[in-house]
Amino acid sequence: MKKLLAVLVVLTIAASMAFAGGGNQRTQTRSGDGNVVIGFAQCKADESDWRIANTFSMMNAFNKPGYRLIIADSNNDAAKQVADVQAFIDMEVDYILIAAVNEDGWDTVLRNAQRAGIPVILVDRTMKVDPSLYLCWIGGDFYGEGVKATDWMVKHFSSREVNVVHLQGQLGAGAQVGRSRALADGIAKHSNWNLLAQQTGNWGTDTAKQVMTSWIQQFGSRINCVYAENDNMALGAIQALQEAGIAVGGANGVAIISFDANRPYLQMTLQGLINCNVECNPLHGPRVFEIVEAHRRGVMPAKEESPIEEAFYWDTITQAIIDARQY
Ligand code: AHR
Repeated sequence: MKKLLAVLVVLTIAASMAFAGGGNQRTQTRSGDGNVVIGFAQCKADESDWRIANTFSMMNAFNKPGYRLIIADSNNDAAKQVADVQAFIDMEVDYILIAAVNEDGWDTVLRNAQRAGIPVILVDRTMKVDPSLYLCWIGGDFYGEGVKATDWMVKHFSSREVNVVHLQGQLGAGAQVGRSRALADGIAKHSNWNLLAQQTGNWGTDTAKQVMTSWIQQFGSRINCVYAENDNMALGAIQALQEAGIAVGGANGVAIISFDANRPYLQMTLQGLINCNVECNPLHGPRVFEIVEAHRRGVMPAKEESPIEEAFYWDTITQAIIDARQY
């Protein structure tokens, strides 16, 4: 299913990107064909289960009469993503949506969008810019997600020594910054917590597995906790631990903390392979569509919105909870 999703997403993006065109090809703006043209600058559409769900949510939300969504995929290249946004400005789209690869580097291009009179909506990821440069931000409370995870660590380990390895998301991404800060605050607060190692796994399973394998060689059975900043990296860590014959999850294995709570990884939580999985909801499409519709009628949105997010635990989650999930 994931491969089908990925193929469909890539085909759709390819089509829309072809439509968006590189070079001198210009896409008709609203004045051209009557559609409201939405330029969506996505990080990397098939980077993770989360990102595939997020891309599909945006595609489905704007797949409506009177709208045309153009998706530019930056392949997680921050500089390219800024250029993608400038290209949307040059195309004179009606709205620009950005899921930012990196929090930094946005001032100039957002000022260009403001001068062009094109409203910008931040989807999912945060940016370090003056809030006057964008209409609103809708995304997860990344620091709060991290606190949910460290609160679970306190309960699970109590006064026992915690030797944690930290698989970070792509460095500079809002989600990485917030979740990493929560762990850093937890380590500073608890004298029985030790950070053995910290490195980015770039949101991916293979990279995370390689990093975790090297940590196993370095620290062996001292590791008793993995703080992985998304499900795909948690899977890589689990694969490395299992290949090394090390018990994973449950009451006595290496505790696995993950973020996103994609359904396949909630199944792994139910199996006890992931101990704590903190939700980061990717389904922003419907709310972003509502915001655009309202804004076109002159209604200003709140500056920022975060969906309600839960956390799921190996010893309390049920199949019914998983079956009821949307992604
Ligand atoms: O910004 C949300 C994060 O982006 C998700 O946790 C991760 O899977 C994705 O790369």
